[in-house]
Amino acid sequence: MANIDTITCIILAAGKGTRMKSNIHKVMHEVGGLPLVGHVLNLCQNKLAAANVAVVADPNEQLTLDYINDNSDAEVSFQVEKLGTGHAVLMAKQQITAAAKQNPDGTIIILYADTPFVEVATLKHMAAQITAGDDIVVLGFEPQDPAQYGRLLTNNAGALLAIREYKDASDAERAVNLCNAGIMAFRAKHLNQLLAKIDNKNAAGEYYLTDCVEIAKSIGLKASVTICAEVETLGINDRVQLAEGEIIYQNKLREQAMRGGATLTDPSSVYLSANVVIGTDVTIEPNVIIKGYVTIESGANILAFSHIEGSKTNPITIAANANIGPYARLREGSHIGEGGKIGNFVETKKAIIHKGAKVNHLSYIGDAEVGEKANIGAGTITCNYDGFNKAKTIIGKGAFVGSNSSLVAPVTIADGAYVGSGSVITKDVASNALAVTRAKQVEIATWATRFRQKNNK
Ligand code: UD1
Ligand code: CA
Repeated sequence: MANIDTITCIILAAGKGTRMKSNIHKVMHEVGGLPLVGHVLNLCQNKLAAANVAVVADPNEQLTLDYINDNSDAEVSFQVEKLGTGHAVLMAKQQITAAAKQNPDGTIIILYADTPFVEVATLKHMAAQITAGDDIVVLGFEPQDPAQYGRLLTNNAGALLAIREYKDASDAERAVNLCNAGIMAFRAKHLNQLLAKIDNKNAAGEYYLTDCVEIAKSIGLKASVTICAEVETLGINDRVQLAEGEIIYQNKLREQAMRGGATLTDPSSVYLSANVVIGTDVTIEPNVIIKGYVTIESGANILAFSHIEGSKTNPITIAANANIGPYARLREGSHIGEGGKIGNFVETKKAIIHKGAKVNHLSYIGDAEVGEKANIGAGTITCNYDGFNKAKTIIGKGAFVGSNSSLVAPVTIADGAYVGSGSVITKDVASNALAVTRAKQVEIATWATRFRQKNNK
């Protein structure tokens, strides 16, 4: 096994991605709620724990640069003109020099920011081959349809001789089914020297990184192939591949949740995202969407048709044995305490619902805190917004809010207080008091009979 301290990753992210037909840079398109480049950064930094991560980016893609800065420690270098993958890697020359100095026999892995599904075990395997004595290791795969991938040309003994780009390949070479996934590992000390020898005399007029293999062979270096499953190599170039990628990733997330001890009654109708954490014995019914930053603790039930979306700054937590839905909508900053209940057609936002509290039907609870075991009746609305500012509603422990009440914030209903149904509460209610604001009921005897007689004549 390679010493992972010596792995450096270089992620190529400068390509325009014109086939995406988008104002958003290709690598910022999301799969499972995480940008493509985020998946690859995560792979290199967190899963592989590479010693160094560098990204080659377009200096004009500000959102991509911001994302990389905010979400990683990667060093960024710029590629202005897009002259090919070999040229792109050359832009990280300084990082390559530093890595080679740090450990000449260490591994440098080149990855593409638009190829998000490579398994960490595959990268470790490639690095292990470098440690074992190879100088270049190329990730190969045998696709259903080899299409326009570069072909891996090997000798009878299976040693890698060259990578031939489709545009430059002969018919015999195009008949080869072993293709280049695009990911390559190098012994650190050789990479700069190989890059310096690449030219652009080919059908595309580009500097091909793939030419390194032939150059390496010509100076007596050793090249080999690691083969992986096709699903790991999917490159996202257009919206159709983006949708394929989403399916692949959703299946991974569903499987991860189930292997972790959650029950998904109809996995294919549950949509998860990269930062959703699901505990054991959580049950998720069909047609549920859980997006962004959400943590669901052990034993919670998420019933059908619920939509749960937390943000990075205001995540969602659902504590043990809470019941959510059916048809619940939890927005950012919703925290549902142990055994809490959020029922059908209830929307929560920045709401702390303490242990055992219930909001069972048809409510909006926003910018609010609901105390332990409080009961919020059907149709209760926290009126948190006056068109300019947001204000807070605080409901104490064991309080009982009758159905169809409006709580005009800022307002506090103290512990144990009751609010009569249909009230509009604008002033604080003291502990254990009853507040009712509706008009007194008036009854006029036989009014209905007389009314009918008058109109039926
Ligand atoms: C590349 C490989 C091909 C392989 C295929 C797998 C080369 C020459 N060819 O072809 O053998 O089968 O990937 O998908 O490497 N990029 C830059 N700057 C550039 C050019 C590219 O940053 O100047 C980045 C792109 O953003 C992309 C990656 O490099 O992430 C690959 O570039 P792309 O043009 O898509 O290469 P392919 O033609 O697909
Ligand atoms: Ca590509």
